[in-house]
Amino acid sequence: NSKVVIAIDGYSSCGKSTVAKDLAKLLNIIFIDSGAMYRCVTLYALENNIIKGGGIDEDLLQKVLSEITISFKFDAQTKANDTYLNGKLVEDKIRGLDVSNHVSAISALGFVRKKMVELQQKMGETDSIVMDGRDIGTVVFPHADLKLFMTASPHIRAERRFKEYKEKNERISFEEVLENVRKRDHIDETRKESPLRKAADAIVLDNGEMSKEEQLDFIVRELRNRK
Ligand code: C5P
Repeated sequence: NSKVVIAIDGYSSCGKSTVAKDLAKLLNIIFIDSGAMYRCVTLYALENNIIKGGGIDEDLLQKVLSEITISFKFDAQTKANDTYLNGKLVEDKIRGLDVSNHVSAISALGFVRKKMVELQQKMGETDSIVMDGRDIGTVVFPHADLKLFMTASPHIRAERRFKEYKEKNERISFEEVLENVRKRDHIDETRKESPLRKAADAIVLDNGEMSKEEQLDFIVRELRNRK
């Protein structure tokens, strides 16, 4: 059996998705960005008045959760894995500041996590997969073949995100981005439901000073050691 499951967890904006994408391409396996799924639920909640005045209408969200379908389609031209919410391409929208500011609160809800974890486990049932997120090695795939825990300093991570926002012409200061990174770290680490935690058998990858190639080499070497 050559099926392989790779779990990548870690803080926001530390390049998990970039590495996961490259790794999936190299190994010719499926890549799933679990954060995109929580972002979809958040976008849906924002667009349907489930989040308003700073609060979340949890009863309403629970009621409509079954109406939310999330899918990924690989775009051969751009080589991107695009996210679809109820059939609509939302890749750009889910990366915006509005969604980023509310996603940690939405993903702290137990009933949201339950549904997402079920969907994620289904995706890994038959195919080889690399999935990135916060609870992939601890909750979604506790028996993953390889678990990585990625980190980098909040400053380095905020710089990366800031550059992305700049490229998209979002009007935001570096301080605001840093604040968002710090706030999300805090919520992700301290929430009751599946807090962000390194799995006991996960390997730490601090990529603050590493190139993309060095990170890939590191992971492929670890994978070889295991199989
Ligand atoms: O990975 P990304 O930053 O896009 O994830 C957005 C948010 O979704 C995170 O800040 C976290 O609150 C939540 N998340 C989660 N569990 C996952 C993936 C993401 O709680 N497996």
